[in-house]
Amino acid sequence: MQALAQRVAEAADLVTVALDELLPRAEGPESRLTEAMRYAALGPGKRLRTFFALETGRMFELSDRSVLRAACALECVQAYSLVHDDLPCMDDDDLRRGRPTVHRAYDQATAVLAGDALQTAAFEILAHPDTHADGAIRAELVSKLAQAIGAKGMAGGQMIDILGVREDLGGVARMQRLKTGALIACAFELPIVMARAKEAERHALLAFAHDLGLAYQIVDDLLDAQGDAARMGKAARKDAQKGKANFVTLLGVAAARERLQVLAKQTKSHLEPFGKRAEFLRASVDFVLERPS
Ligand code: IPE
Ligand code: IPE
Ligand code: MG
Ligand code: MG
Ligand code: MG
Repeated sequence: MQALAQRVAEAADLVTVALDELLPRAEGPESRLTEAMRYAALGPGKRLRTFFALETGRMFELSDRSVLRAACALECVQAYSLVHDDLPCMDDDDLRRGRPTVHRAYDQATAVLAGDALQTAAFEILAHPDTHADGAIRAELVSKLAQAIGAKGMAGGQMIDILGVREDLGGVARMQRLKTGALIACAFELPIVMARAKEAERHALLAFAHDLGLAYQIVDDLLDAQGDAARMGKAARKDAQKGKANFVTLLGVAAARERLQVLAKQTKSHLEPFGKRAEFLRASVDFVLERPS
């Protein structure tokens, strides 16, 4: 769907320009830190969380301007998570978004600090009155993001990933839900909060987000097993080598692909109540499944 690829590219441009304005400028003796934050956050990410947030906002007729601030917060967190994920004590990667990882381009201390400061920048952006006029809504946005990325969200999932899942596929699914699914779900949840959406709509969209997040990480794991490192801008063939448990290392490529097809149908089914309003979100499922990077 050509129109969809274009909408994703437009979302990416919008958020990169907005991030450039919102992130601190590289000045003063701390400029090494602010430079590293900019290096990490302004690099060529796919910005799919931004796309999900903007499309959800459009379904509820929110202005792109306010949703874009929420998207900036999501992308700060995404950048932070990747900077830390690539550290030698985590996945030990040298390449990210086609460029040296932050600890390679700078050093490990700078990478830890840049991740920390990107995370706090996300909360600063959400808490600012420009994000929403109502302070109670802003507090809820902050709370939703905190829940998505803390011990019972992304950080918890990363812990399980590092320890290695020793149980069944259910354990892997839970890990994926926490480490990747929770932030993706948050891309839907923030505009849902801003729009004060009805409970039934919230429920359906979050069910969609949940399945989409799982599919997203399975595709990431398939790309690790089979993708083209140059195209992905990051190393491939690392998960098996590092003994990571995921759907692909446990089930094999063919069975993981089959699971993905079933999951894709299930994911789309959650959008039925929205009809044509959800046209672009529906198409984004195939886009996520077929992405080459
Ligand atoms: C990579 O996320 C890490 C995962 C959660 C799978 P993306 O594939 O969305 O990475 P960027 O933001 O486009 O670089
Ligand atoms: C990382 O998952 C998920 C995060 C929370 C950052 P991966 O470790 O599989 O992500 P890549 O493959 O390095 O992008
Ligand atoms: Mg990892
Ligand atoms: Mg990694
Ligand atoms: Mg991966």
